Parts: sequence; C-alpha cells; structure tokens
Amino acid sequence: MKRWIWIPVVIVVIGAFVSWRAFSADIESRPDVPVTPEMIERGRYLAVAADCIACHTAPGGEPFAGGLEFDLGEMGKLYSSNITPDEETGIGTWSDDDFRRAMHLGIGKGGKRLYPAFPYASYSMLTDEDVLAIKAYLFSLEPVKNTPPPNEMKWPYNQRWLMAYWNWLFNPAEQFVPDESQSPEWNRGKYLVEGLGHCGECHTPRNFLQGPKRSQAFGGAVTRGWHAYNISSDPEHGIGSWTDEQLVSYFTRGYAEGRGPASGPMAEVISHSLRHLTEEDIRAMIVYLRSTKPIDSGIPAPRVAEAAQPADAGDENEHGRQMFAALCSNCHKADGSARQIPYEALRGERALADPHGTNLTQVVLYGTEVHTPYGRISMPGFGDGHTDSDLAAVINYAAAKLGGQKLNITPEEVAKRRTRPPARL
Ligand code: HEC
Ligand code: HEC
Ligand code: HEC
Repeated sequence: MKRWIWIPVVIVVIGAFVSWRAFSADIESRPDVPVTPEMIERGRYLAVAADCIACHTAPGGEPFAGGLEFDLGEMGKLYSSNITPDEETGIGTWSDDDFRRAMHLGIGKGGKRLYPAFPYASYSMLTDEDVLAIKAYLFSLEPVKNTPPPNEMKWPYNQRWLMAYWNWLFNPAEQFVPDESQSPEWNRGKYLVEGLGHCGECHTPRNFLQGPKRSQAFGGAVTRGWHAYNISSDPEHGIGSWTDEQLVSYFTRGYAEGRGPASGPMAEVISHSLRHLTEEDIRAMIVYLRSTKPIDSGIPAPRVAEAAQPADAGDENEHGRQMFAALCSNCHKADGSARQIPYEALRGERALADPHGTNLTQVVLYGTEVHTPYGRISMPGFGDGHTDSDLAAVINYAAAKLGGQKLNITPEEVAKRRTRPPARL
C-alpha cells in the first residue's frame, strides 16, 4: 500500500481523539449544598472581586440582568446573559452542578457551549466552595425578568460546539492548589489576579485562536480599542518600578502620584471591583504581580523628569497648542500637572508615551470616568462637536508636550477610530 494512504487515517484518528477529549470533559456531579447566610456574604465579596456586575449589566439596566453588548468585530456581536435568579429569563432553575459546569468548563445549562468572552478560563481556577458561594449570593438577589437581545455572531463563530475545542486548548480547568513553597500572601495574590480578577483577560496578549499567549503573560494587549498595558514585573515596560504605595493608590483610588489616572476599562475594574477589596487582598495582589516573569515589550515608562521634555516640544503644532488651551487646560496644566484634583496630573501617564496614542485618542474622543472614595471623577469626551483635524492636532500636541512622544495621528486615523466600538462606559 502507498505510504500517503496513512495521512488521512492519522488525521481522522487524531481528530477523533481530540474530539473525544474535548467533548467528554465534565465535572464530578454532586447534590446541591444548603445555603447559609455566611455563604451569601462571602459570595458577595467574591462576586465583587470577580467583577461579574461589569459585564452582566447593560447601560441603564438592572444589575446582573445581562444584555451588555460585546462587539467582537469580524466575529459578530454577543450579549451577556441574565444571571439573576429569574426562572424564565435568568438562571433561577440552575442546580449547583449546572453553575459549576459553567464556571469551570464554560458549559451552560443543557450543554450550551459558552463563548470565552465570559472569562471562565480564569474562573476555572476558583474552588468549588467559592463558586457555590457566588451562586448563593446571586440567588439571594431579586429575580429580574429580562431577555438579552439575540446574538449576532457570524459563521463559523455562531457554531457554539466549536468552543469545545477552544476549551480543550485554552481552558486549564484546574482548581487552585496553593504552592506550599510560597507565602500565603503570594498564594492569595495569585488566586485574586489570575482567577477572580481575571487580569490576564485584558493584559495578556492572545494568539490567532484568541487563546492567551501564556509565555507572554501580563505583557500587555490591545482589546476593543484600549491598550491594557504590560503589568508584568518588568521595571521599564511593566510595573516593576512602581512603589507599593503607587500600586495601592492606583487600585483603590484610581490614580497614582507620578503615574497618572486609570481610565476606560481599567477605571471600570477599579470602580466596580478593586476599590471595594480589603487592603490585605490588594497587597497580596501586588506581591504576586511582583513575582511574575518580566516581559520586556510594550510601552516604555514615560520620562517624567521635568527636564526630559524640551520646553518647546510640540510648539511647531500651533493648531494643537490652541486646541489644548481651549479644550484641555481647564483641567490639565500646560506642563501636565493638575489644575484642581490629583486625577488631572498626567506626568508619568503611560498613555502619553504610547507611539500609537491608543488610549489618549480614546479619552479625547469618548471621555472617561472612575468611581472613587471621593465620588465620581470624569473627563468629558470631545468626539462630538470637534473636527477630526482639531482632534488629531490636540492629540499630537498632548503626546509631544506632556509625554515627549512624537505622534503622527492623522484626521483620517481619528475618523477611523470614531467607528471602532467605543469602550464600555
Ligand atoms: C468580561 C465579561 C464577563 C465577566 C467579568 C463575567 N461574565 Fe458571565 N458572561 C459573559 C458573557 C458575554 C456571557 C454570554 C456567553 C455566551 O452567550 O456564550 C456570559 C455568560 C454567563 C453565564 C451563562 C448564562 C447562561 O444563561 O448560559 C453565567 C452563569 C455567567 N456568565 C456567570 C458569571 C459570573 C458568576 C461572573 C462573575 C464571577 C461572570 N459571569 C463574569 C461575560 C462576562
Ligand atoms: C477589562 C480589561 C481590563 C481588566 C480586566 C484589567 N485591566 Fe488593568 N488596564 C486595562 C487598561 C485598558 C489599562 C490602561 C488604562 C489607562 O490608560 O489609564 C489598564 C491599566 C492597568 C495598570 C496601569 C499600568 C500603567 O502602566 O499605567 C495596572 C497596574 C493594571 N491595569 C492592573 C490590573 C490588574 C491587577 C487587574 C486585575 C485585577 C487588571 N488590571 C484588570 C484593562 C484591564
Ligand atoms: C473637565 C476636566 C478635564 C478636561 C477639560 C480634560 N481632561 Fe483629561 N482628564 C481629566 C480627568 C479628571 C482625568 C482622569 C479621569 C479618570 O481617571 O477616569 C483625565 C484623564 C486624562 C488622560 C489619561 C488617560 C489615561 O489613559 O489614563 C489623558 C491623556 C487626558 N486626560 C488628556 C486630556 C486632553 C488631551 C484633553 C483635551 C482634549 C483633556 N484631557 C481634557 C479631566 C479633564
């Protein structure tokens, strides 16, 4: 027999093996556990640390009732589910097994394969005890009747069964086991960063199958128009040179002296989740982040010394200088220091050192807000009412003047970024 005849046979055998592995994954079935008030309280805190509310609440909608749109570009559109205990439109009829299957394997009730926009590949690290505490908390809420809009996923992405393969490749589906050689604080930090906080979902780059590139963990990535920076321990590109106090302030207040404010999706993470955690948990996360492998790619730290920017930086851009004086200088002074509140201080802000001006363009077009212990702090967007050429000029000027970064954003580029899905704000 000719040798090539074996090629299709080998492919079929491998395909059958992979499919068997992918489709046979299941949890160990157990009867429902009785719910206690302590479980509900614990679940409330865990749900905050996992930020379920951010994705499961539509703008102006009821908390956890779903319907938030996820624009996945070429792949189509997806809407988050109603996870209130409503029996018809929510998860009111789900057993403990159903819920554990969703959180650990991305399989919904009745075997529906869930899209990884629901970060179950991170939540699969949670212990059964914590998963069931989260369920107990969700089931203690008022049921809300709300059916999210139907998904508009394009072929082949609308084939949910394909997610079984994605899961097999990218969902580790292993519950957390503490590493005895590390401190309890490090272990707690790992659980919070990698599991509950799902920080890597935004901060770890993805491969062409949308799986995380684990060798580049926390190395930074652009998602839905925002750059989630490198937060590995690298001193130049990551958080290695931030002090503990800067990190604590960033996570609990939404800004760090000498590093600038948190905007866009990160401001949301802080608003709904991080600022409500105990200081002990925040410090544990920092201990863990400092132990991550340094990844030396991304945006180098901006030069913050006053002498680093030539005094005439940006001066050739007279249009931009005028726009900055008209639109920005009410809050941000010409040298990037704050006019009234520390959130306006932009020196050291990585957005200004980004050669693509990604987040800078986002805040100028759409504005941003963060909820803090001092109330809601916001910057207005300037997308409406200003021409692409005005906005390009002010973006280029701000980067040159405040970040020492030469940008060349054209009006056409601004027009293009206007059509990108805006951040979830
Ligand atoms: C980053 C966004 C995001 C976060 C954070 C998130 N979810 Fe989701 N979740 C989604 C999306 C999107 C879907 C819909 C997936 C689909 O249709 O395949 C979903 C689906 C679900 C489902 C399946 C519901 C059904 O009817 O099939 C459950 C259960 C769920 N999420 C629970 C949670 C819990 C509990 C948390 C917090 C621990 C959480 N989610 C956090 C985005 C998110
Ligand atoms: C929904 C996406 C998303 C998630 C989830 C997320 N981040 Fe971020 N993060 C961002 C974006 C976007 C920025 C840039 C914000 C800006 O420009 O102000 C950022 C910025 C940061 C920064 C500042 C880096 C710098 O150099 O300025 C730190 C530190 C950080 N994130 C840590 C975390 C940690 C820890 C978690 C998990 C608890 C987390 N992030 C989860 C999107 C995210
Ligand atoms: C009304 C006051 C106000 C005006 C006007 C204003 N800003 Fe802001 N800006 C803020 C505040 C407050 C923040 C921090 C908001 C947050 O953390 O969510 C901020 C944040 C920023 C950031 C940080 C972005 C990031 O990724 O973290 C940049 C860059 C910025 N502004 C540039 C500008 C530019 C350029 C203009 C003019 C086109 C401008 N701002 C106009 C108040 C203002």
